[in-house]
Amino acid sequence: MQQYFGERPPSPRSVLLAEVAQATQRLADAGVPSPRNDAEELAAFVHSVKRGELHRVPDADFDARYWEAVARREAREPLQHITGLAYFRYLELQVGPGVFVPRPETESVVGWAIDAVRAMDVVEPLIVDLCTGSGAIALAMAQEVPRSRVHAVELSEEALVWTRRNAEGSRVSVHKGDALSALPELGGQVDLVISNPPYIPLTEWEYVAPEARDHDPQLALFSGEDGLDTIRGIERTAHRLLRPGGVVVVEHADTQGGQVPWIFNEECGWADAADHPDLNNRPRFATARKALP
Ligand SMILES: C[S@@+](CC[C@H](N)C(=O)[O-])C[C@H]1O[C@@H](n2cnc3c(N)ncnc32)[C@H](O)[C@@H]1O
Repeated sequence: MQQYFGERPPSPRSVLLAEVAQATQRLADAGVPSPRNDAEELAAFVHSVKRGELHRVPDADFDARYWEAVARREAREPLQHITGLAYFRYLELQVGPGVFVPRPETESVVGWAIDAVRAMDVVEPLIVDLCTGSGAIALAMAQEVPRSRVHAVELSEEALVWTRRNAEGSRVSVHKGDALSALPELGGQVDLVISNPPYIPLTEWEYVAPEARDHDPQLALFSGEDGLDTIRGIERTAHRLLRPGGVVVVEHADTQGGQVPWIFNEECGWADAADHPDLNNRPRFATARKALP
């Protein structure tokens, strides 16, 4: 291979590269699932650059606050709580203590819902997001479905602080309330009801990752012994809110794909109940159509 340079001293190793490598090892030892990714994201956050711009940080500018951030992640605090940001589809959302951090698997649930609404060919689709948390689903629907009117419902006042902050300036109407009795004024008019509700069975508590168990609100995670209490309630709410032919989309745990579609059965006034996988091919969400009279 052609040499471009003759003899010269070896180039010094970037300080930041060495620190990121060391941080990656510490995070891996702590059981963090994506240690390299998180070590780089934290370096980018601390140095106020994008991850792809880390090579531009001069050695002299290495910021010792990096090790404080790494120690927090090492203690299994969510990356998004440290940076204060979560990315969801085309959105950058503010998150922190008191609100559930949106997860990538929910992005495919929203993708399905967007396709379903577009296929309806309704001029101003009316959409309801139950259990909205940070507002991730509602805001993505509002952004990606032109002329949609989106209502977001959340019970927790702590979560609503974040919902309202994220929804500022958007077309999403935020409501404080219980998903099980929400929005009586919209009864029979809604085109699509979507929800990522709490669904972890209480019996699974010990298997939940520390980031979720210790930092996501309990109200966002658990819903009765089998995890399905809220989904059973949402079935009733969705039936009340939807117009005939309207569609419901509900995320569930990857162990519940055999149960949730049965909740939306014909006897309860539903048609076309089906279950769908996420991008990892794990059962992830159920859909159904409100039967025509
Ligand atoms: C799993 S989190 C999902 C948040 C958001 N939809 C997302 O996908 O990132 C569930 C949310 O439902 C809220 N919640 C739980 N029970 C509720 C209820 N009965 N009515 C309204 N919101 C509820 C929790 O506070 C939490 O914000």
